[in-house]
Amino acid sequence: MRVLTGITTTGTPHLGNYVGAIRPALRSSQRNDVDAYFFLADYHALIKTDDPARIQRSTLELAATWLACGLDPERVTFYRQSDIVEIPELTWLLTCICGKGLLNRAHAYKAALDKNAASGADPDEGVTAGLFMYPVLMAADILLFNANQVPVGRDQVQHIEMARDIAASFNHHYGAHFTLPEAVVDSQVATLPGLDGRKMSKSYDNTIPLFAPPEQLKKLIFGIVTDSLAPGQPKQTEGSALFQLYQAFASADESAALARAYAEGIGWADAKQMLFERIEREIAPMRARYQELMAQPHAVEAQLQAGAAKARRSATLFAQRLRQAVGLRPLAVAGGAGAVGVAGGARGAGSAGAAPASAADKPALPSFKQYREPDGRFAFKLTDARGHLLLQSESFATPQEAAQAISRLKAAGYAASPDLHPLLRLGGTSPEGSAGRADPAAAAQAAEAALEALRAAS
Ligand code: TRP
Repeated sequence: MRVLTGITTTGTPHLGNYVGAIRPALRSSQRNDVDAYFFLADYHALIKTDDPARIQRSTLELAATWLACGLDPERVTFYRQSDIVEIPELTWLLTCICGKGLLNRAHAYKAALDKNAASGADPDEGVTAGLFMYPVLMAADILLFNANQVPVGRDQVQHIEMARDIAASFNHHYGAHFTLPEAVVDSQVATLPGLDGRKMSKSYDNTIPLFAPPEQLKKLIFGIVTDSLAPGQPKQTEGSALFQLYQAFASADESAALARAYAEGIGWADAKQMLFERIEREIAPMRARYQELMAQPHAVEAQLQAGAAKARRSATLFAQRLRQAVGLRPLAVAGGAGAVGVAGGARGAGSAGAAPASAADKPALPSFKQYREPDGRFAFKLTDARGHLLLQSESFATPQEAAQAISRLKAAGYAASPDLHPLLRLGGTSPEGSAGRADPAAAAQAAEAALEALRAAS
């Protein structure tokens, strides 16, 4: 189960972000059946702000926050969006299959138009093409990693639905490349009230910064609005922002104890002191770690670079496959025009009256052949109908292992997925094979093309 989520790098995290997003995401990433991808959506930040310093500062703050809150980069794939060049590349492929009408319906874009209509301005006033394209970029974030689930707030659900629509169009047109993602809205997670009792949100200016120094945290907590009941008078927990904040950090027993204290007439100052101490207990160790990280931007940067390398291990290969799928292919792979003939022929054969005129026009179906190497080990090769070598495997100790590798390749839809890659002798120097090239990247691309041709033909 791959779970992916992005965090736009425009702000400084507050307690509401921690309770509503960071803490639940980190908890779910600890499950053994979850392969979590977290990334800093700095391309998305460009849509919201044109202040370069703010984006850089927010990126550092958010990266340090997630690490300080316990994100384990060994376990989770944690990266910065703009380090993955395949994301903007995929954005373009998706842009070209996405109907403009779909984007016209996006809430954020429509809200901008409505605002202009209300004020009598030109409908497009202040609307960048970036805002319009926001859902396509987000679809690329999700689809590049074939995420199954995307935990989001309610306001983002429409974007996940659009990502599904875009993925389905692409799959319909070019073959089943993308997993259709699902939005997951966690109804368990309470929205935290802010200082004024409304939802804690930057737009209400009622937030408590997650890593405010203790004195500031205390001051803000003492500024939370309450009613004017005096100490000794019983108080209601219902509708009490103070109580809800306490609950978000406390155990059930601790919350029950505060509820009793309310009933017994605890004074607001004492209740606020309890809240301050409870939050401080959870936050203080993370704050110390956060401050260390903020003082070492190089270390955070290195962490993000390592995360990007990890993410790109699969993304680079997948993007290559997608390029091939849409027709952005090396001209000379798999016997030059032959490769194109295979894919084109397969499609043509399905359409009425497209019977090949001669044997030479027949789609050349590649096939796998197992064989024994001179050293007694077992291998397989993929050849086109004319017997030209397209791909050669590594050697295996037993014929069963070679057969299993072929099955896995077939099961993966003939995609040279990263775990299969080591089985293919991509960098080999076989003189006859188009996959045998000195340049490993070209060889990998040739192998992808061979597999793509096979996939299209079968
Ligand atoms: N748009 C999301 C937000 O504002 C952030 C985001 C960008 C995202 N890309 C994503 C979330 C991909 C989930 C998946 O909250």
